[in-house]
Amino acid sequence: NERINCIPEQFPTQAICAQRGCCWRPWNDSIIPWCFFAENHGYNAQGIETISTGVEAQLNRISSPTLFGNDLNSVLFTTESQTPNRFRFKITDLNKSRYEVPHQYLKSFTGPATSEALYDVIVNETPFSIQVIRKSNKNILFDSSIGPLVYADQYLQISTRLPSEYIYGIGEHNHKRFRHDLYWKTWPIFTRDQTPADYTNRTGHHTFFMCIEDTSGRSFGVFLMNSNAMEIFIQPPPVVTYRVTGGILDFYIFLGDTPEQVVQQYQELIGLPAMPAYWTLGFQLSRWSYTSLDVVKEVVKRNRDAGIPYDTQVTDIDYMEDKKDFTYDTVAFKGLPEFVQDLHDHGQKYVIILDPAISIGKRANGAAYETYDRGTAQHVWVNESDGTTPIIGEVWPGLTVYPDFTSPQCIDWWADECDRFHQEVSYDGLWIDMNEVSSFVQGSLKGCEENKWNYPPFTPDILDKILYSKTICMDSMQYWGRQYDVHSLYGYSMAIATEKAVQKVFPNKRSFILTRSTFAGTGKHAAHWLGDNFATWEQMEWSITGMLEFSLFGIPLVGADICGFVGDTTEELCRRWMQLGAFYPFSRNHNSETYEALCPFSFSPCPFKSSRHYLTIRYTLLPFLYTLFYKAHQFGETVARPILHEFYEDKNSWIEDTQFLWGPSLLITPVLKQGADTVSAYIPDATWYDYETVSNEGVLTCSNVFSYIKYLSYCQKKKQRVDMYLPADKIGLHLRGGYIIPIQQPSVTTTASRMNPLGLIIALNENNTAEGDFFWDDGETTDTIQNDNYILYTFSVSNNALKITCTHSSYQEGTSLAFETIKILGLTDSVTEVRVAENNQALNSHANFTYDASNQYQPLPLLILYFALSWK
Ligand code: NOJ
Repeated sequence: NERINCIPEQFPTQAICAQRGCCWRPWNDSIIPWCFFAENHGYNAQGIETISTGVEAQLNRISSPTLFGNDLNSVLFTTESQTPNRFRFKITDLNKSRYEVPHQYLKSFTGPATSEALYDVIVNETPFSIQVIRKSNKNILFDSSIGPLVYADQYLQISTRLPSEYIYGIGEHNHKRFRHDLYWKTWPIFTRDQTPADYTNRTGHHTFFMCIEDTSGRSFGVFLMNSNAMEIFIQPPPVVTYRVTGGILDFYIFLGDTPEQVVQQYQELIGLPAMPAYWTLGFQLSRWSYTSLDVVKEVVKRNRDAGIPYDTQVTDIDYMEDKKDFTYDTVAFKGLPEFVQDLHDHGQKYVIILDPAISIGKRANGAAYETYDRGTAQHVWVNESDGTTPIIGEVWPGLTVYPDFTSPQCIDWWADECDRFHQEVSYDGLWIDMNEVSSFVQGSLKGCEENKWNYPPFTPDILDKILYSKTICMDSMQYWGRQYDVHSLYGYSMAIATEKAVQKVFPNKRSFILTRSTFAGTGKHAAHWLGDNFATWEQMEWSITGMLEFSLFGIPLVGADICGFVGDTTEELCRRWMQLGAFYPFSRNHNSETYEALCPFSFSPCPFKSSRHYLTIRYTLLPFLYTLFYKAHQFGETVARPILHEFYEDKNSWIEDTQFLWGPSLLITPVLKQGADTVSAYIPDATWYDYETVSNEGVLTCSNVFSYIKYLSYCQKKKQRVDMYLPADKIGLHLRGGYIIPIQQPSVTTTASRMNPLGLIIALNENNTAEGDFFWDDGETTDTIQNDNYILYTFSVSNNALKITCTHSSYQEGTSLAFETIKILGLTDSVTEVRVAENNQALNSHANFTYDASNQYQPLPLLILYFALSWK
């Protein structure tokens, strides 16, 4: 199991093995390397010196046969003890600079090294290896001594042995389970226009993983800042091996007391996620192949008539004239501007798709395509290897050029085009697609030259085994560098450019950017959906893992295409998916052309009932969800949260990935199997209240809970699986005792619901305590937090008192809202009196309340919270 493969790229033979100077021991199973490294490979460290950030040493290559040629004889190793819980080490060329990711957020660290590090670092000299050890428990978090360092011009390899078998993250892939399978798995990483298929590279590039060490919650994270094509190989001990085609080795190791803390530390490094506009948390409806505006209008009408809560109508490439960005089809989509006005008049929003590829052809009427002409005049395209000739590929509109979003003049051009089009069609948000970047011809219209960039000596196990497959040639040039190095940053740079555009189009407004391709730090600029999934039960299930992984990657506004993108869905699948999708942080129903228009919105019979019901609950919970996003934005907390982040003391929770939480306190248990009405659900160690029962009828006693859910855990079953009864129109929603969540009376748009009365649900734990918070601002102005234009409450319950503390009250409009209903779940004593106090002074008025002993449920009057809200 500890063999580090010496022939990772092809079927091993003894001859190749001998050539590479590795050990040959065939085994009865070819998954285990037959040819593996011995200690004759690697580097020796020379002259380890202390520097301001940590240590530095020259590493000299041990003389040995090469794997892929051009090994560097000497490299420079540097460490940075950046903070008590963050350690970085870098290995670069000693003599000349190599490509490094020009990340937009990372700041360089010049020291001094922290004196309070929670870790020790041991650098072994002969051969070189590095160990990062957690001081408190002596766990070796990173240990490269298990394999050799290989450092060639186009092949970098390093391995690390991990102290735990529980690993999460690395993407973007179609990981079926959240916890990694350690059985000899190769995960290629290189952005590519690719549906969620097994083991292939996909649209995002994420090297971050989190590893939980023990039931105390201690966890650590490892991040390799590198954008080159690579594969990450995982084998049983567990050992993780990186095989990278370029750039440098630039590792960050994070030490957390909990898994959640590790994710926070990672996001602190790469950039905390954007604060979304409130409306973007509302439901969005989309499809590819709305053949005309009339069809879209019909869809909007059906949904309005059915009372489906939905904020945003999206149109795909169909609205465009000949699929050209910044145009619309004035025949089939005649009246689009007026339609958008109608959406706005109904408090709804309009989002359009934009593709990066720009047609080089003329407009339908033979006129010049000015977007292209203006771009050409400003030299904004990605060029061929000569650095001056725009590379030509092919996408939806036919032959295309590709904007180089890494160049400042391109960003200006893009912002200007977005602005011009907005003057024609007043869209509210932008969906940026195909930005891996995708091309339908391999490399370019002319093909790709035979050189070391297009045909490197080592190609990771990516789809088609060709770097330029479904994209542009690897020797093409961008402002940030050569495609070979910057390819996986295309979507990331496009998101940043689109953010600049949005700032121009909507000064001081947050708008909405949804991107398909992502990199570390994209969450600071955009949301993400999980790409072109299939309308299958499995893909619905796996979407939970995908969503949780993006929580780890710092892109919390994430969801999958509800009901499935490719393939005809069924009423049952779509109903179950709508139930689940109502709890994706980003909730959008979208499907592909040629497939039957999606239920529940476009054909009959449709599960309107279930969709409406759960979207209504989503809208009720939006103040809670928005507050979670505030905490993601400010502190890097996850929104869709893996159960293990909250219940790490319980090792069983470490593998749960068919259920998830919103923040710490709402447990979501979807039905994921065809024909099922009962789910084997895991009940983490807490008091749980069935949301739907309590929201309608108050808290139930054990006996009547059982009448609703055959075997509910809330009374006595914890830390075990229960058969949760979830008939056709139900998804499991459970509130965790100990938490207070803000709610709002729902409506069919957030524009309307934001005006409605608020409320609180207080779910007591066994100690009769609870806590929570509430963030509120105008929902769309930028920087409300920096400008102190928001409201923040913290709530806590103990000793029979609900204490409401207003820590910020500077958003004036918010004071017209009131919390009209407070539900307290889990009271054991009966209630005889409710008193109101302000600043600890009892007020004259005693609150009127009703107390129903049969369900122990007390709605309190508006009065109380009104005081709280007007209190400064
Ligand atoms: C690919 C996207 O992933 C999909 O969502 C979209 O419908 C098509 N492109 C057409 O624009």
